[in-house]
Amino acid sequence: MVKAGLEDVVASDSSICNVDGKEGRLIYQGYDIHDLAQHSSFEEVVYLLWNGRLPTQTEFDTLCKDLKENRALPAAVLKMMRDFPKTAQPMEVLRTAASMLSMYDADDLENDRAANLRKAVRLTSQIPTIVAYWDCIRNGRPTPEPLTQGNLAANFLYMLTGKKPDELSVRSLDIALILHADHELNASTFAARVAAATLTDMHSAIVAAIGALKGPLHGGANQEVIKMLLEIGELSNAEPYLTRAFEEHKKIMGFGHRVYKTEDPRAWHLRKMSEELGRLKGQLKWFEISRAIEEKVFREKHLYCNVDFYSASVYYMLDIPIDLFTPIFAISRMSGWAAHVLEQYSNNRLIRPRAEYTGPNNLQYQSLDKR
Ligand code: CMC
Repeated sequence: MVKAGLEDVVASDSSICNVDGKEGRLIYQGYDIHDLAQHSSFEEVVYLLWNGRLPTQTEFDTLCKDLKENRALPAAVLKMMRDFPKTAQPMEVLRTAASMLSMYDADDLENDRAANLRKAVRLTSQIPTIVAYWDCIRNGRPTPEPLTQGNLAANFLYMLTGKKPDELSVRSLDIALILHADHELNASTFAARVAAATLTDMHSAIVAAIGALKGPLHGGANQEVIKMLLEIGELSNAEPYLTRAFEEHKKIMGFGHRVYKTEDPRAWHLRKMSEELGRLKGQLKWFEISRAIEEKVFREKHLYCNVDFYSASVYYMLDIPIDLFTPIFAISRMSGWAAHVLEQYSNNRLIRPRAEYTGPNNLQYQSLDKR
């Protein structure tokens, strides 16, 4: 029997990530996301996802050094980005520029694990540069040289604004990156694995993933959430807005999940961050509106919010432009995509399911002049 949307179909073995939808738990390579969000860093999680264990100090330092050394873009990619129409959406730019990167990659024609790890490092470092630089280019600002110090979150915020970011912003973004790093066979990761299973290259698989992430049912949802919050504008408008949305049978972005039947564990951290940032920045209303929406959607539809719901107000309060919310998801998920591509290559079989044919049979061909 066909399972619409492959719901609950197990399509692969994987040791990378366990999503326990009943208990609301998310585990990366054996470590609970709550532990990692509290104590770890994005760079450490990257190592964990790619290698199946936490790094030693030396391994951690080496990865951080490699990531820092690969932040710059090839000149040709930057030149091409400057020629893109200034109206191009950041996800379109990311998809196209990430694809270009393969032509300039030192390991372009290699597909062994060592070469793919080097490609994964370069892509993880270069994707934030593409996203930040595009915002500079489209707004006529200079593109700052990437920092040689600081973690990925600090460097990204610096390249985006040209200013040294404060510690709270860096730690908030770092936690958000940890939370978004992997999520088992979500649509974009599955797209990456399908591509990798043909033994195409890492960059092609990542481009497939970026295309899938862009959709509003996946990574695009966080942008739709902030648009909703801005449209609601004031706490008193939340209730009537939702009543109308329910009457019109609209989907409320940032709610529902294919796997979680209880609270998404990532939402807990993002909710807390949204409240903390709101208090510190004197913008608590976005948190308050979000809480009101969350309560009403749960009361009336019994739907829990997902990772995209509170990440929207968090990114907004970090002064990140709205159409960069989904690219930030890509900056983080790049680590998970790479882990899955590496895992797919390590034990590959072409992914080629079947379709239940529902079309007509036995039609007789008629030439054009008889139709
Ligand atoms: N608002 C209102 N109703 C909803 C929502 C929602 N956000 N989500 C699910 N429902 C209802 C849906 O209308 C359907 O009702 P009925 O059975 O009466 O037709 C029922 O719940 C099942 O929904 P579904 O769309 O068939 O569920 P799915 O498992 O195919 O889709 C989903 C999961 C995440 C695509 C969906 O919940 C949705 O569209 N949510 C809004 C978009 C969103 O927030 N996406 C981010 C997902 S989490 C991060 C990520 O993966 O990127």
